[in-house]
Amino acid sequence: IVNHAELDHAGAFKEVLRIAPNAEIICSDRGRDSLKGHFDFDRELTIVKTGDELNIGKRNLVFIEARMLHWPDNMMTYIKEDHILFSNDPFGQHLATSQRFVDELDEKFVMDHAARYYAQIVMPYSQLVLKKLEEVKSLNVPIDMICPAHGLIWRKNPEKILSAYERWAKGEAEDRAVIYFDTMWGSTDLMAREIAKGLTDSGVPVTVYNTRTSEWSLMARDLLLSKIVLVGSATLNMTMMPSVAGILAFFKSLRPPPKIASAFGSFGWGGGAVRDIISTLKEMKFNVIEPGLQFKWVPREDQLRECYEFGKQIAQKI
Ligand SMILES: Cc1cc2nc3c(=O)[nH]c(=O)nc-3n(C[C@H](O)[C@H](O)[C@H](O)COP(=O)(O)O)c2cc1C
Repeated sequence: IVNHAELDHAGAFKEVLRIAPNAEIICSDRGRDSLKGHFDFDRELTIVKTGDELNIGKRNLVFIEARMLHWPDNMMTYIKEDHILFSNDPFGQHLATSQRFVDELDEKFVMDHAARYYAQIVMPYSQLVLKKLEEVKSLNVPIDMICPAHGLIWRKNPEKILSAYERWAKGEAEDRAVIYFDTMWGSTDLMAREIAKGLTDSGVPVTVYNTRTSEWSLMARDLLLSKIVLVGSATLNMTMMPSVAGILAFFKSLRPPPKIASAFGSFGWGGGAVRDIISTLKEMKFNVIEPGLQFKWVPREDQLRECYEFGKQIAQKI
């Protein structure tokens, strides 16, 4: 059963065909395209769709197509007798551990990785997640265990990850802020720190990332989980710095739910970074607080106080 043809799942497909020359190959309709597109083989495929059942002896399998979660071919397989859902990509984590089950590790740690996974892989398809969750609920079948194709197995309380997916797909974020910035000479960094102080002094926890040195999965996770998103950049060649442009392009492609957002940064003469960040945040349909905050060259003490106040004002928007 090929639930998904991506190479991190089905990379051994040809080897399996060699070992099992008489095996029936089962995939979704869209799986035909991705399997044929990745592997050169001349074997019949059995195409299944949502609701189709297969008896394998003592057990009966039910297939549930999960198109665009996260490729067109994605499919889940449910074992009726054991109430196990092989969910494929959804509910996974990019985690390689010697433990096999979530309950053998700190659940918060696994949930954090599940959030990173959701943010980077699943977030663009949040509307489909909500539909799929409804569809699975309407099947009215018990789910005792969820075995994703990545990371650990949800053996106890699988409803925890189901409800987390529902929250994330609905765009429910936490009362916290995230600041992303890049700088050449440190002025935008100074601004970021003062804005962060203003937020924390108002009771809003904040995470600050330098976009040039931070891990993208963490930055994406906090985009998912934060109500406030602030982006800062020094002006370089009349626009934002490349690392900020890069992360914003990635974030835009993730189609996050609306956030309270604004921009800040230092410039030398004509500026441009704050203007272009604001315009990108608007394209992302964020609730943008304009005109953002920018200072020429190195911010002075009174300007840093303005940054602090800016942080405090934005904290009130939650
Ligand atoms: C290579 C380079 C290109 C720059 N291009 C611009 C520009 O096009 N427009 C502008 O207003 N400032 C420009 N600046 C000036 C910076 O924006 C200014 O030095 C700013 O204070 C840097 O902020 P930072 O300390 O956060 O890096 C440029 C600076 C450098 C080093």
